[in-house]
Formats: sequence, C-alpha cells, structure tokens
Amino acid sequence: MPDAPKTIESLEVEERVFAPPPEFAARATADADLVRRAAEDPLGYWADEAERLDWMKPWQTLLDDSNPPFYKWFVGGELNVSVNCLDRHLDQRGERVALYWEGEPGDRQAITYRDLHERVCRLANGLRSLGVKRGDRVAIYLGMVPELPAAMLACARIGAAHTVIFGGFSPDSLSDRIQDCSCRAVITADEGWRNGKTIALKENVDKALTSCPSVEAVVCVRRTGGEVGWVDGRDHWYHELVAGQPPECEPEAMDAEDLLYVLYTSGTTGKPKGIVHTTGGYLTAVAATHRHVFDIRDDDIFWCAADCGWVTGHSYIVYGPLANGCTGVLYEGAPGFPGPDRWWEIVERYGVTILYTAPTAIRTFMKWGKEHPRLHDLSTLRLLGSVGEPINPEAWIWYQETIGGGRCPIVDTWWQTETGCIMISPLPGVTATKPGSATHALPGVGADIVDELGESVPFGSGGYLVLTEPWPGMLRTLYGDDERFVETYWSRFPGLYLAGDGARRDEDGYYWLMGRIDDVMNVSGHRLSTIEIESALVDHEAVVEAAVVGRSDPTTGQAIAAFVTLQASIEGDDALIAELRQHVATRIGGIARPASIVLTDDLPKTRSGKIMRRLLRDISDDRQMGDVTTLANAEVVSEIAQMAAAARAAGTGE
Ligand code: WT7
Repeated sequence: MPDAPKTIESLEVEERVFAPPPEFAARATADADLVRRAAEDPLGYWADEAERLDWMKPWQTLLDDSNPPFYKWFVGGELNVSVNCLDRHLDQRGERVALYWEGEPGDRQAITYRDLHERVCRLANGLRSLGVKRGDRVAIYLGMVPELPAAMLACARIGAAHTVIFGGFSPDSLSDRIQDCSCRAVITADEGWRNGKTIALKENVDKALTSCPSVEAVVCVRRTGGEVGWVDGRDHWYHELVAGQPPECEPEAMDAEDLLYVLYTSGTTGKPKGIVHTTGGYLTAVAATHRHVFDIRDDDIFWCAADCGWVTGHSYIVYGPLANGCTGVLYEGAPGFPGPDRWWEIVERYGVTILYTAPTAIRTFMKWGKEHPRLHDLSTLRLLGSVGEPINPEAWIWYQETIGGGRCPIVDTWWQTETGCIMISPLPGVTATKPGSATHALPGVGADIVDELGESVPFGSGGYLVLTEPWPGMLRTLYGDDERFVETYWSRFPGLYLAGDGARRDEDGYYWLMGRIDDVMNVSGHRLSTIEIESALVDHEAVVEAAVVGRSDPTTGQAIAAFVTLQASIEGDDALIAELRQHVATRIGGIARPASIVLTDDLPKTRSGKIMRRLLRDISDDRQMGDVTTLANAEVVSEIAQMAAAARAAGTGE
C-alpha cells in the first residue's frame, strides 16, 4: 500500500445540514434515548435486539471474545432463520404480502407470508429429497425471481449454507465459487431477463459444472421457456420437484454460530474472498439495522432495489425485512426497461414508502432527466437510502428533491459485504444529515479513524476507517482461509478491524467516506481523495458522471487523470475541458485541478455498478490491463485507452 494516507487532506467543505423533519422524528422507532442506552451498554443493546427473534434454545454467552479475531456471538443459542423470517409471522400476518414481485416483461405476483412459507417448505423438502442436508453448501445462480429468496430461505430451513452468485457472472467465475465452496447442488433457471434480452443461466451452469465434481444435483426454474441442455439424473425442473412435496417442512435447529451463507467479494488479489456469515448474530444485526435505519413501521412498503446476488440483497431484501415481517418489492429487470420511468412506475403501483438504492443508479436517473420521475406519483415515499459508494452532494440533493419531493430524510449507509449489516448511517429521526456524509456509527457499533500508527485522529482530519468493537453481523472468517482473514482485516492495527476505506471526521464528528484506500492519490505531497474531485466535476452542470485516478507523474508524484461523461445533450470540446479543470480548481483548489480530462460516453464498470478505477489507473499509466471480463461494458475500455494516450501525449499544461 505505497500511497496509503497518513492523514487525508480534505479540501472541499459541504455546509448544508438537514435536521430530521419534526413529524418524522416524533414517530421514529429509533430515538435519542435508544442511542444513549446503546452508548452506555452496547452489548445490552445487542442482547435486546436478539430478544426480538424466536430462539429455540436461549444463548448462554452473549459474546465470546476469548480468541480474537474469531469472535462468537450468542454462544449456545439455537434458532432457525427461515422460522424467524416466515413461520413466526403466520399467526398475525400470514395474509400480509411479504414480497410484491414484478418481472421485467410485466408479469406480477403478490406473495403473502403464507405463500412464501409454503414455497420455502416445498423446496426445502425437495432439496432434502435430492440428498442435500444440514452442513452442505448450495449455489444459487438466478435472476431476481421469487424462487431466489425462496431458495435462500429453503437452504436456511434445512441447515445448508447458500452461496448466491450474481446472475451476471461468467461460467468461470461460477465454477471458481462452486469449487471453493464444494457445493452439493446448484439452483438456477433456464434463462433470466435483462433489458428485454435473455441471459443463458442454465447454459452457464452447464459450462461451469464441467469442472465441479462436488455438484450432484441441479434444480432449474423455468423462467423464459427457452431451450436448455439437460443431464438426466443430475438435472431437475424446479416446478416438478416442488409439486410432489408436502407444504410443511421441519426446520433444523441451528447453532447461533452455524454457517448461514458464503458470499464472494473481490479483494486486492485475483482470488475472490468467500465472506462467511453465521446464523444468530447476523440475523440479529440485519433485523435491528433494518428496523432502526429505515424506521420500519407496520404499513411500510420497502423497496431495496439491489440484486440478491450482492450483500445488500441478502441483508435488506431477504433477511432483515422478512425477519421484521415487512412488505418488500422485488423487481427482476433493468431500470430502463421498457422505458426510463420503470422504477417510478413501480414506486407508484405499490405505494413504495422507503426506497434504498445506490449512487450510481441515482446518477443514471439524473442523466436521464427529471421528466421521467415526474410522470408518476411518488408521494408515498417517506424515506430514501443510499449505499455502495460515497454519494456526491449533487446526487444527494437531486435524490432528495426530485425523488423525495424535498420531504424525505436520506440515509447514506456505509457498510461492506464483510460487515453484514449497516454500520455508519444516520438514524432518520435522530440525526441531522449533511449531503455526502454517512454521519455516525450506529448504536452498538464502534468506529474510529486512525493514522499510520493506529492512533485515533482528532476531529477535522482523516485516515483509515476502523471498527473498534466486534459486532454480531461481522464476518467470522474467509471460507477456508483463516490466515487471509486475519491478514486482510486484523493484522495492520492489532485489535482493530481495517475496513480498507479512507475517511475523515469533520469538526462535528461526522464521517465522510473517501473511497478505498487505494483510491487516494498523492499529488505534490498532498493526499487527495479521488471522490472529492469526482464530486466537484459532477457538480458542473454539463457532467453526469466522473472517475478520477492518480497517474504517475515525474514531477508531482501523481497527476490527476479524470474521465468524464457529459449530459447527453452536450457536445464536449477543448473549451469545455478547460472549463471543467477550472471548475475543480475553483471548488477545491489549484492542487486538485485535473492534469487531463478524457470525455467518454461511459465509464468501465463492474456488474454491480462500481467504477473500475483500477482499470482506469492501468489505462492512465499505459500499463497492461488486468482482467476485463468481469466488466459490464468491456467495449468502452479500448476507446478510453486511445483517448487517454492522446491526452497524455498532448499534455494539458497549466
Ligand atoms: C465498500 C463495500 C455494503 C453493500 C454494498 C457494497 C463502499 C459502501 C458506502 C457509503 C461510501 C461506501 C466502501 C466499502 N461503500 N457504502 N455509504 N459511502 N462508501 O458492498 O461490495 O462489500 O463494498 O463499498 O468502499 O468498503 P461491498
């Protein structure tokens, strides 16, 4: 980590503050009292939250911290996650909708808790009939169909761990993950829908399985009716499998520390990390954070518009909301299909009250224009959430005004696949928000910002974000690799969890996330966050999206290379490039003026929508590029590379 921050200099100041609306604060589930009690007794807070779940056997020890960093929560306790998400709601709210599902082509289902319970039990029995048992692993490779949450819950019911693999991954990525986990079964579909086109899920599974000897059974959902290859004895149609099964299924009593799922995420090396989440602590953490951060009430319609293939979908589409008996929305397809107002049509149709999405989606909607959300009645919305990357103040304000009608608080939630649950976020009835800041650590969570030596830095400065206390939703290890777990997260600062993000705290103690540590540049001895410069660029009216990386420069150490997408209606030229460079200089200071700006129609992105800055760094330094097959839009890369070479050669000078 050569360019890790000693202290990160932060030059941009966001002054706006939004207090919680008084009517909102008056009714909020989380109030100042809860915050105070949790601060006095964090473990007591988590114990109280765990008490809301149904335990088959009470725990004896709340937290076993005798062998750090291998913490154990609710030791001795037993529970079943699917029982907590389904069975216990049947008496009171069996007829309540658990999930409104909408397929991309327009087909719809309103699935009640009773329906979902039955679907899960039938599938759980079906899986057992195929030989899947407690302690096994099952890979799930599906689009956003109702069978996806059902499959996750069916695994949980019989004590098999799932690993959900995002439907956009290639056969190679699929087989890597299946092999790493030695999965016994795979649940997939013939095809998935995306942007009016089909994705060949079953075909990808067939390719992947040529190198996965552990897999004995494949269960295939019929989604599109497309043709599929078939291996007799191995392959089973989902609808046939569940049709013959009883609608009740005895749940396994799981130990609180039994494996619930493995979810793969990328690290600094090529090999993905299998993040391990267990049963009791994870469910406690996602249910509590879902309730408090989103201020969940009985009549809410909660739409987390992520994919179940990512942790956001695990925690805030499936486990948190269902544990809380909430009504959710599940949308299968692309946001722009068939038209750019699809999301707003969905909000209007179901009367969505809480929307949770990512800055990249918000910026896409900004690019498409205000006229599309304006076509629909969005007045049911009362709270908006953001996750996945720092949200630039311009997008924050746009979200608040255009989608939230100026009345909805925004919760900018910082967390990771590893943390399992939201860690730093406003509580909407308590916290005054500042656009672009994730504000404070949640109740029960210990966070800090430290310098190179692991010393806490004063308010007003930046450094490494760390978590100082174990929390119930924490990853327990990396699947099959305790050593890498300790090395990656716990070795740099003993006793502290290293999140890998740079952050600063302002004079009021608000956290401002500044991107991954390797997204921090060092320009002429000044450490600058790429996100701040991006934010300044996006602040210009011509700009929709921007990515900034440090490219090696003989004079300044690193020079700032910017990649910018303009509003569709605007033609870029040298004059505009000069104006943008000046705009950044004006917003942040001359030190932040980009050395080069490349205008491009699109930025290289992962399939989860994260800009691949690493790739842009390679392009900027004219290095051989790493693997581009995981990109959502690989074709933009060579085009950007040519323009970047030209920009380097021209040199923009001062
Ligand atoms: C990384 C984790 C957590 C679900 C989605 C991403 C970045 C996440 C924020 C936020 C600034 C954020 C961090 C973090 N990140 N949320 N609100 N503000 N940055 O999960 O793929 O595990 O990525 O996403 O860099 O470390 P993930």
